[in-house]
Amino acid sequence: MDKITDVQSEALAAVEAAVNLDELQQVRIKYLGKKGAIQALMSEMKSLPREEKPAFGQKVNVCKQTVTEAVEAAAAKLEAKALEEQLINDRLDITLPGVRRETGTIHPLHMIQQEIEDLFVGMGYKIAEGPEVEEDYYNFELANIPKDHPAREMQDTFYIDPNTLLRTHTTAMQMRELEKAKGKTPIKLICPGKVYRRDDDDATHSHQFTQCEGLVVGEHITLADLKGTLEFMANRMFGEGRQIRFRPSYFPFTEPSVEVDVSCPFCNGKGCNVCKGSGWIEILGAGMVHPHVLEMNGFDSEKCTGFAFGVGLERVAMLKYGIDDIRNFYTNDQRFLKTFDRFD
Ligand code: DAH
Repeated sequence: MDKITDVQSEALAAVEAAVNLDELQQVRIKYLGKKGAIQALMSEMKSLPREEKPAFGQKVNVCKQTVTEAVEAAAAKLEAKALEEQLINDRLDITLPGVRRETGTIHPLHMIQQEIEDLFVGMGYKIAEGPEVEEDYYNFELANIPKDHPAREMQDTFYIDPNTLLRTHTTAMQMRELEKAKGKTPIKLICPGKVYRRDDDDATHSHQFTQCEGLVVGEHITLADLKGTLEFMANRMFGEGRQIRFRPSYFPFTEPSVEVDVSCPFCNGKGCNVCKGSGWIEILGAGMVHPHVLEMNGFDSEKCTGFAFGVGLERVAMLKYGIDDIRNFYTNDQRFLKTFDRFD
C-alpha cells in the first residue's frame, strides 16, 4: 500500500515537473502506459492474499484516476502555453521592409499607338492590320509608284526577292484596304504598324520604325476634312490650342500632297530650340488620295474622293516626351522605359 502512495506522489511530482507536452507524454507513458508503473502495481495484486486484494485494487484505481486527471490538467495547461508561445513567435513584423514586386511598364511607342487608336476609334474609324513582309505590288505598284519610278529612290527598301519586300510604309495597307473594298464607300480606317527602310541607324533614323496610316474615302471628302481631322489629332496628342498648317509637298499616291506642321507645343509657336525658332514642327505627310490610285483599286474617282495621311509614331513620341535619340525606343534600357511608368 505504501508503494502505491510512493508511485502516486512520484507520478504527480513528475507531472508537475514536465515543462512541455513532450515531457508530459514521457511521464504519461512511464506511469499510465501498458508497461507503466501503475499497470505494474495492478499485476502485483495477483500475488496478494485474497482479503487484501479489494483494498489494494481500490487504491491503485484511485491512484490511476488521480494521476490521469493530473496529466490531463497539465496537458491542457501546456497546450495553452504552447499556443500562446506560437502566437507570440508567429507575430508579423510589419516594420520589416517588404519585397517589392517589379512590374513592367507600357512601352512609350505603344502608349502613343493606343492614344491614336483611341482617338480615331472614337471618331468611328476601324483599325486595320497587315503583313510586314509585303508584296511590291501593294507597297509600290498600287500606290502609283511603278517600277523605275524615281519615287522608289525616296525609300531604300529591304527586298526579299524582286516581288517581296519589308514594307517601307503603312501606305501598303492603305492599298490592301482599298482593293478589298472593291469600290464600295465609305472607308474610314487607320493602320498602325512597323515599317522598314535601309537607313543607317543614328539619333533620328532607324532601319525599323512605326507608322500609323489614316484613310477616309467617300463622297464629298475634301482637304478641309483632312485638316479638321489632323487638327483634332494634334490637339489631343500635343495639348489643346495646337494649330496645324499645310505645306505643299509630293507623294505619288496623293494629289495634292501636303507636309503637315503643328505649332510648337514647347514654345506655343513663339520659337525655341526644339522648333529651331520657326514655331512649327513637321509631324506627318498627307494628301487627297490620287485619282489614279482610286481608279486602280476599282473606285470611280468622279464620284468619290478620299484623304490619307501617314504619321511616324517615334517622331510623335520624341516630340511629346522630349526624347532626343530614336534608338532609346529599341534598346530596352530599363532606366529609359521606367520613366514611362504611369503607376509610379
Ligand atoms: N507613306 C508616306 C511615307 O512613308 C507617308 C504618307 C504621306 C502617307 C502621305 C500617306 C499620305 O497616306 O497621304 O513617307
